[in-house]
Amino acid sequence: MSTATGVAAALSGSPPARTSLSLFSVANRVALVTGGHRGIGLEMALALAEAGAIVYCLDLPTEPDADWVKVQNYVAALPATEQNLKGRLEYVTGNVTDQKAMFAHVESIVEREGRIDICMANAGILHACDCLDYSAEDFRKVHEVNVSGVLYTAQAAGRQMERLGTPGSIVLTASISGHITNPTQHLLAYNTSKSAVLQMARSLACELAPKGIRVNSISPGYIVSEMTRGGFSEPGLKQQLSAQNPMGRFGRTDELRGAVLWLASDASTFCTGTDVKVDGGQCAW
Ligand SMILES: NC(=O)c1ccc[n+]([C@@H]2O[C@H](COP(=O)([O-])OP(=O)(O)OC[C@H]3O[C@@H](n4cnc5c(N)ncnc54)[C@H](O)[C@@H]3O)[C@@H](O)[C@H]2O)c1
Repeated sequence: MSTATGVAAALSGSPPARTSLSLFSVANRVALVTGGHRGIGLEMALALAEAGAIVYCLDLPTEPDADWVKVQNYVAALPATEQNLKGRLEYVTGNVTDQKAMFAHVESIVEREGRIDICMANAGILHACDCLDYSAEDFRKVHEVNVSGVLYTAQAAGRQMERLGTPGSIVLTASISGHITNPTQHLLAYNTSKSAVLQMARSLACELAPKGIRVNSISPGYIVSEMTRGGFSEPGLKQQLSAQNPMGRFGRTDELRGAVLWLASDASTFCTGTDVKVDGGQCAW
């Protein structure tokens, strides 16, 4: 059977077949999404599950809330497809700042499912403070979750992918705040941490490419979530921040789904060490 795809398949005389959309399938692959209890993480988890993956959402609450369970049930009730996609959502209580525990969480996912293919290191926190007043403790806390936690997550998945010889995909959630300084916002620790995430993705990508593991990052712009509802709650601020991108609005979490599936799946097999901005054009200004 010919393994040619795309134009090579068309020229090889293979029977005509639609293969381009199926590149985005992650059927029967196993994924970890940190910060997967709500917001961007839960949207990533649903996108992956719809595309056929078994997704473990790791987050701080000891039990998932009613909304998370509703999304889990929604996935369970998805209609069958011709490709027999069988997505599933699972919940794991965990803290990304605990390196040993993160290693153990991914080991136990592999024990249960036999594999780990996709890792979305997405958990993060936002904290605002004037730069000259930043306490050592507050600065450390942001970096512990947004930088160390992202590393421990990527390590936990990467170690298992290496052990099992899996051509895995690791995606780190960075931010436009790693590329620019958000005008009018005093987010020194957050901005610094997200720049570190961008560089971490490049460094991991270069070291892990010979092992067949890809690492990329996604940089969302302003997205409606609990983080931005809490962090930008001042009256009129949302309008002011919306005007900072050419599209003049905040994005929705579901508008990240295309980038998530592209990076997680075989649609991006020659892509590593890169960052995908989903920001309404904010960094283009
Ligand atoms: N919302 C935005 O506008 C925006 C923009 C750019 C980047 N981001 C990034 O996207 C990611 C998700 O953001 P969101 O908007 O969904 O925020 P959110 O606050 O709604 O969700 C973050 C999730 O991470 C979890 N979390 C926090 N600390 C954790 C820890 N130590 N261990 C495990 N889980 C932990 C939280 O419990 C929460 O469920 C973050 O990394 C954030 O920095 C968000």
